[in-house]
Amino acid sequence: MTGEAPTEHDRTPAEWWRTAVIYQIYPRSFADANGDGMGDLAGITGRLPALHDLGIDAIWLSPFYTSPQHDAGYDVADYCDVDPIFGTLADFDTLQHTAHELGIRVIVDLVPNHSSSAHPWFQAALAAPEGSAERAHYIFREGKGQHGEFPPNNWESVFGGNAWTRLTNPDGTPGQWYLHLFDTTQPDFDWDNPWVRAQFRGVLRFWLDRGADGFRVDVAHGMIKAAGLPDYTPPVEGGSMGGATVTEPGIIAEWAETAPYWAQGGVHEIYRDWRLVLDEYPGERILAAEAWVDPLSHVAEWVRPDEMHQAFNFAYLETPWGGPTLRRVIDDSLTAFSAVGAPSTWVLSNHDVVRHASRLALTAENLQGHGIGPKTAGLPDTVVGLQRARAATALMLALPGSSYLYQGEELGLPEVIDLPDASREDPTWFRTNGERYGRDGCRVPLPWESAAPSYGFGPTSASWLPQPAEWGTLARDAQEGVPGSTLELYKLALRLRREHALGLGAVDWLAGFGDPIVHFRNGGVVVVANTGTEPIELPAGELLLTSEPLAGRTLPGDTTAWLRA
Ligand code: GLC
Repeated sequence: MTGEAPTEHDRTPAEWWRTAVIYQIYPRSFADANGDGMGDLAGITGRLPALHDLGIDAIWLSPFYTSPQHDAGYDVADYCDVDPIFGTLADFDTLQHTAHELGIRVIVDLVPNHSSSAHPWFQAALAAPEGSAERAHYIFREGKGQHGEFPPNNWESVFGGNAWTRLTNPDGTPGQWYLHLFDTTQPDFDWDNPWVRAQFRGVLRFWLDRGADGFRVDVAHGMIKAAGLPDYTPPVEGGSMGGATVTEPGIIAEWAETAPYWAQGGVHEIYRDWRLVLDEYPGERILAAEAWVDPLSHVAEWVRPDEMHQAFNFAYLETPWGGPTLRRVIDDSLTAFSAVGAPSTWVLSNHDVVRHASRLALTAENLQGHGIGPKTAGLPDTVVGLQRARAATALMLALPGSSYLYQGEELGLPEVIDLPDASREDPTWFRTNGERYGRDGCRVPLPWESAAPSYGFGPTSASWLPQPAEWGTLARDAQEGVPGSTLELYKLALRLRREHALGLGAVDWLAGFGDPIVHFRNGGVVVVANTGTEPIELPAGELLLTSEPLAGRTLPGDTTAWLRA
C-alpha cells in the first residue's frame, strides 16, 4: 500500500457514484474473524486494506441484520440491528469508520419487499385477528373454495412452489393465507399501507444517521402488487426474478411488463419519497435498484432524476459472450440511462447468479438462471470460462459509468459445482426438491492464504460451505504480485481506469475488425476485445493491459487488450 491513500475528505464527493467501482461483500463468505465458519463484520474490517489495495471505491454489504438466515439474511427480523453471527452494531461502526479512513464508501442492503416471518411486525400480525391493523402491514387474504382451502390466486414463489401459505388459527382451525413471493419465511409487506412506508423511512434514517453512504435496494421492482391480485402465469422461459434467460439483450421483455407483482408503476412513488430523505443528508448518499426488468429503457425509469441513482444492469450480466450482442447491450445501456441523465452500471457476477468465470463458458441451454450442479448437462470448461471472464472484466472496466464487482471474481473463482447436497442452504434447492441447484455455488467462502486452514477465510478450518481443494492455488496470497494473475489484472485495470478517468468517458466505436471484435475508444484508451476464436493483429499503440499474456501483437480469441490511443 502506498502512503498517499485518499481519505474520504480528499475525494470529491460530487457525484462519486457516477463512476464508482463498487465491490459486493457477501458477509457470510468474505472473512471469518471468530472462527465459527461463518464470515462476520470484524472479519471484513480486518481485510479492508486488501480491498483498498485492489483499488475499489465503495463496498456494498449484503445483509448482516438480525435474521433466522432462511434466505441467507434476506429474511430480516430487525432492520436496525446486527445478527449475532455477524457481530454487533459497534462492529458495524468500526467497519464503516475503517472503510471511510481508507476512502471506501459503504452501501448497505435494504430489503423492503418482505421481512422475515420472525420479525416482530409479522409475529404481531399472526397474533392479531383477521382484519386488524397488524395484519394490514402484510398481505393476508381469504382462500378460495368453499372452505378457503385454495390459495387466493395462482402466483408462484420465485424460489419454486406456491406464493401463499395458510395460517392455522390458535384453535387449530385453518385461517387466512399470506403472500410470500420468496420463501414461506419471507412474508411480503403491503406497501399500499402508509404505516409500512413510515417504518422504512425510519430504517433509512437509522443507517443514514450512522453514516452509511447508501442503499442497495432488494427486489426494487416487486413492492407494489396490482390491485385485486389477479392470477398470472409466467412464461416457461422466464428467469426466476422477472428477468429472463436472455440469449440476446432485450428479447424477453414481457414477463416483467405484465406480471402483476413486478414493475408496477406505484413503486416509483416510494423511491421519490426516499430520495427526499436521502437528499436531506450531506455527502451524496445513494440508492441502487435491484430491478429485474426489461428492456433497459424500462430499467431507466428507476433512475430518473428524482428517484434512485443507479440500477443494476442485468441485461449486461445476462448478455452472452459475443461481439454483436455486447455492442448492442452497451449501446442500449448508454442510450437508455443517459436519456434520464443517469450513469450506466455494469456487472458480471453477484450472489444470485452463476459466477462469470463459469457462466461465460455455458451454452444458452444450460444457462437457466437456476444454478448449476453435478447433474447439469454440458458443464463449463473451466479454462475457457476463466479466460473469457478475464477478457469480459477487462472489457467491462473500460466502459464509462459505474461497475459492480462480486467478491472473489478478482481471484478468478469459478462456480462451485459439486457441493455436497447436505451442505446446500439455498431455499431454492429445498423448495424445488433439488430440481434447481440455486445459488450456493457462488457463495463459497473466499480463499485468502493458500497454506492456512480454510485458506485463511478464518482462523480455523471451519467454513459454512466446503471450499474446493483447488482453491489453495487461487488464494489471494498466491496471486499477489504474480504478473498475469487474475488479481493483478484487476488491480491494473482499476488503476488504469482511474488514471484515464474511464468512468467519465464515452464509447466511440471503431471499425477495422469483424463481428466478434468489440473495438472502441474511451478517451485515451483503445479497447480491443476478441470474443471469437480467430486471432487478430492489434492496431498500433502502446499496450497498457492485456487479459492474457500476448505473443507479439497477436490478440488470441477470448482476450482483451487496452492500448494507449
Ligand atoms: C434478491 C436478493 C436475493 C434474495 C431475494 C429475496 O434478489 O439478491 O439473494 O434471495 O432478493 O430477498
